[in-house]
Amino acid sequence: MMISKELNEMINAQIGHEFEAASQYLQLAAFFDARALKGMAKMFMKQAEEERGHGLKFVKYVMETGGELKVPAVPAGKTGFASAEEAIQYALDWEWEVTRRVNALMDLAIKQNDHLAREFLGWFVSEQLEEVSHTDALLRVVKQAGEKNLLMLEAYLAHD
Ligand SMILES: [Fe+2]
Ligand SMILES: [Fe+2]
Repeated sequence: MMISKELNEMINAQIGHEFEAASQYLQLAAFFDARALKGMAKMFMKQAEEERGHGLKFVKYVMETGGELKVPAVPAGKTGFASAEEAIQYALDWEWEVTRRVNALMDLAIKQNDHLAREFLGWFVSEQLEEVSHTDALLRVVKQAGEKNLLMLEAYLAHD
């Protein structure tokens, strides 16, 4: 077995968080689709796919290292956002939370001198830079444009 019990358990939990993110991003896609903001809806659909992909990467790692896979139950995503700003802020807070979790996984890998896990987790550490900065940029655009000018978001995405 090339994975410690402690890291195995943390990764199992992370698989749940990734699938929860996928579910949350589908809800955000629906929020923007309901407002006919197709570009935003499409972007969040793609994000949902990516989060599912992240979950699967962790699944594969547990399998390859001979760990025990336990996919947790996935909580329902939040709905009923009052504004686009609130919806995007929620996504940004989520990505910050994920960043903390990925860092905690890396902290454990370092503590355990698990070089294989460090190599594997490095990808997720870098990925979070993209996720946080992209979502933060969206939030800045929506704040500048205001809720009455959400088409600016679509224009922003078109040139992203
Ligand atoms: Fe993710
Ligand atoms: Fe993400």
